[in-house]
Amino acid sequence: MCGIVGYVGNREATPILLSGLKRLEYRGYDSAGLALLEELPRAVSTSNGHSAELVTSTRLIIEKCKGKVTDLEEIAANKPLHSTIGIGHTRWATHGAPSDVNSHPHTDQNDKIAIIHNGIIENYAHIRDRLIARGHSFRSETDTEVLAHLIGEFYSQNHNLTESVRLALNEVVGAFGIAVIAADDPNEIVCARKGSPLVIGVGNDNEYFVASDAAAIIAHTRQVIYLSDNEMATVSRSGIKTRTISNIEITKPVEVIDMELEAIEKGGFAHFMLKEIHEQPRTITDAMRGRVIEEEGNVILGGLQNHLKDLRRAKRLIITACGTSFHAGLIGKYMIEQYARVPVEIEYASEFRYRNPIVDDEDVMFAISQSGETADTLAAIREGKRKGSLALGIVNVVGSTIARESDAGVYIHAGPEIGVASTKAFTSQLTVLALLTIMLGRMRHLSVVDGRSMIRELLQIPDKVQQTLDSTERQITEIAEIFKDAANFLYLGRGYNYPVALEGALKLKEISYIHAEGYPAAEMKHGPIALIDENMPVVVIAPQDDVYEKVLSNIQEVRARKGHVIAIATEGDEKIKELAEQVIFIPKTLPVFTPLLSVVPLQLLSYYIATARGCNVDQPRNLAKSVTVE
Ligand code: AGP
Ligand code: GLU
Repeated sequence: MCGIVGYVGNREATPILLSGLKRLEYRGYDSAGLALLEELPRAVSTSNGHSAELVTSTRLIIEKCKGKVTDLEEIAANKPLHSTIGIGHTRWATHGAPSDVNSHPHTDQNDKIAIIHNGIIENYAHIRDRLIARGHSFRSETDTEVLAHLIGEFYSQNHNLTESVRLALNEVVGAFGIAVIAADDPNEIVCARKGSPLVIGVGNDNEYFVASDAAAIIAHTRQVIYLSDNEMATVSRSGIKTRTISNIEITKPVEVIDMELEAIEKGGFAHFMLKEIHEQPRTITDAMRGRVIEEEGNVILGGLQNHLKDLRRAKRLIITACGTSFHAGLIGKYMIEQYARVPVEIEYASEFRYRNPIVDDEDVMFAISQSGETADTLAAIREGKRKGSLALGIVNVVGSTIARESDAGVYIHAGPEIGVASTKAFTSQLTVLALLTIMLGRMRHLSVVDGRSMIRELLQIPDKVQQTLDSTERQITEIAEIFKDAANFLYLGRGYNYPVALEGALKLKEISYIHAEGYPAAEMKHGPIALIDENMPVVVIAPQDDVYEKVLSNIQEVRARKGHVIAIATEGDEKIKELAEQVIFIPKTLPVFTPLLSVVPLQLLSYYIATARGCNVDQPRNLAKSVTVE
């Protein structure tokens, strides 16, 4: 999920790797590291014992630490490292907290091979157990070290480095972008990708670069080869050889990057927020990675395995969170109560912490937080723990305070979220809550058949989010242009989509500074209807679910008062076209999963309205990405 850079050529590698890593800092990371192959001149006696000749051997050097690239730079400055080949990494932890030892590069059992990795190896526990039985021992908690040892296992059986990497990758399930070097192969870097980007830079004078993101190498070359999923490359001073992981040789075109640095950093998007909105098909997949057992209609959440009994016995669940994470929690309540039939209370963390809530040891608390550092949420779980409840986290940032202080938890694996307005973290939170719902349901009343059909539908959500992005974005730019000068907005939804209305309104407020309110659609007639006139745009989330007909009546009520209705509806819904001025269609799915689709047009709408108003979308005024004060 974070940064990779590699170099092989004739120049000193260390400064090239360090400056490349600095270019990747914008992505957010928790630690950094380098692996180099240092050439050691060595005098060797010839067989007659008289003369001596100079040969070289290479030594694998690894420097890594928790913290910033500048910390790594300091370490490197104190130990002059001479090498013309090396790899560098910025880590954003997924398996094991940020620490020196969990930082990349990782080495194999014989310390011959070094690897850097972005992504998640899903079956690492299984491979690790197998290797432990064969005598391997591990230093870190990472999935990456397991891959290093697996490659090393093949390497020690006399396969060359490329073949060792290839054979290992054939056993791996998950997502990876990797770069590997070996002390005994001082001329090459082997790299591969699946589900995590990797680009090879072609420099001058027989030098080559490897990077997870062209920003790391653009200062040296604009000529690149993009690897596709399931492809690998062996990059040496004499050129590049590319093949598939199933061992078919391939020829890849050299392309020229015409983007400027800033555009590359944002993946070609104008803002991080837009990039993160577009990342959602992948981040939702990452949240499910290795967690569903389709056949059994069940879910395994590794972090909760030691607490299954508590979850089965729990009389009540309490969810606590702030902002967008609170909205995800509210949807979680609806999901869990419908399918697992456990009562769920949800409360703003800031209220919970000061109100002397009733909590006991038959309750299980969940704290939801993207950053894992929100002061109110942290105080709320401390309060819950003090009162005897088990406290579980649903967190994005590995090793964050909430992750550390909760008894256990589930990471959402959304990767670093840079835009202050939370988008991809929200849909990843919803995905994890959906998985939790299925797991809790299967412990109670949900049949295997129903569990299976929920999982099948959930697995299709990433594609449906992609379809939503593809089919609605242009239309939404036009709608944004029409309504960008509105002074107020109302968002309405019912059932699962009531919290989506709250989230849509929050997004608009945060980044466009337009006053917006989210309401349960039927509550409108108890007050907000007084606000509706020809100046009020009303966004109504109206997928074809159990409350669809009711929402149509609410739309009529808005129209009767000359409000402008922008409806989010299920594709193929002809009826709604006659009622609403603007209709944005989303694909059909189970009602429980509609928020994962219906929120996407709302994220885009707030984004395009804010940009049309010239607002600073990624860093809106008065807001901070993580709110560590009360
Ligand atoms: C979301 O767009 C906001 N920036 C904010 O409401 C945020 O969700 C809230 O501060 C909670 O943050 P957390 O998920 O990191 O705990
Ligand atoms: N899963 C790996 C780890 O936790 C890779 C993290 C990354 O992508 O930076 O170490």
